[in-house]
Amino acid sequence: MTPSMQSYLEAKRTVDDRALNRRVFEQFTAELAEIDEPVRVTEFGCGVGTMVSRLVEWECLPTRTRYHAIDRDPESVVAARKRLPDRLEAAGYRIVDGSDVPEAERREDGLETTVDARSRDRRIDLSLEVADALSTATGDDGDRSTGPEPDDARSRVSGSDDARSRGTGTADAVIAAAFLDVVDLDRALDAASTRLEPGGLLYAPITFDGATGFAPPHPLDERIERLYHRHMDDVRDRDGGSTTGRQLLSALPANGFELLATGGSDWIVRPRSGESGGYPATEQVFLEAILETIDDALAAYPATVLDPSDRTTWVSTRRRQLEAAELSFVSHHLDVLARLEKRRTKK
Ligand SMILES: C[S@@+](CC[C@H](N)C(=O)[O-])C[C@H]1O[C@@H](n2cnc3c(N)ncnc32)[C@H](O)[C@@H]1O
Repeated sequence: MTPSMQSYLEAKRTVDDRALNRRVFEQFTAELAEIDEPVRVTEFGCGVGTMVSRLVEWECLPTRTRYHAIDRDPESVVAARKRLPDRLEAAGYRIVDGSDVPEAERREDGLETTVDARSRDRRIDLSLEVADALSTATGDDGDRSTGPEPDDARSRVSGSDDARSRGTGTADAVIAAAFLDVVDLDRALDAASTRLEPGGLLYAPITFDGATGFAPPHPLDERIERLYHRHMDDVRDRDGGSTTGRQLLSALPANGFELLATGGSDWIVRPRSGESGGYPATEQVFLEAILETIDDALAAYPATVLDPSDRTTWVSTRRRQLEAAELSFVSHHLDVLARLEKRRTKK
């Protein structure tokens, strides 16, 4: 059975945990710690909320954070909303207020739910919103007021007068994890600079950068990889591209950002060695979803470009190897940290 997008994103978490470039990550969290609190973070394409739970669990958020997570996929936002309170509690937080919107309502565009959580020394006001992160609206990322005290914390739902009056639409940091390679890069950088304060940070980890590989080798690998990447660049009806990582190195300065740090963050998934066998955590599900994505991409080509029997041979071989825990996978990414220049320059 094909894994759902939400199972894929959940299974991706441990792969990302290993892949994230620690030098870039540590510079990002060190920069966050220098910002006046509460620190306002907006995440584009938050999926099922793995980045915010990682930042909480790794104790990397400042002591007061307003975190606004946006995704256009209602199913993912609902999944994030279901999972995050438990994760926050497991990380030592108490949920002071978690406004609840009925399921049906949550599926409508633009709705937002919030969770206000406190630990002994930290507080996070988390809002989750179904929206297009690239829309030109500046969004509602909150002002710097300290917000209600625990006992009179009130729930907020986007669209209410309270929510609309909350902020200036600015953020101190925008996070875009595994996101910039699936959207129009110029529009995404424009949306980030619209959201950010001058001097604000853009952290874009796990940005795909043009290499996909499997082991053991197969005679069709080179063609399959080429067609898969070509599909990202030219064929699929959505934006993004197979070399977004390296494109960022010139697109950031051209869009008024100073590049602070960059580094590789490759996904490497391989079967466990020794008798235990299998794959770590739910990484088999992750690989099933990757093979499915490649298979779908290859299916878009006519027989004159790719013989359907070649596609079937390659995909079924890879699926058999996965079942037998013999398949390894490598995918190249870049993590990037940039600062919006204090004075915006014209392109
Ligand atoms: C590859 S997933 C990454 C999700 C998450 N950042 C992670 O690393 O687990 C890309 C996410 O971006 C979301 N997305 C794509 N275009 C979007 C847009 N214009 N606005 C908001 N979300 C978008 C998708 O729904 C998906 O959840």
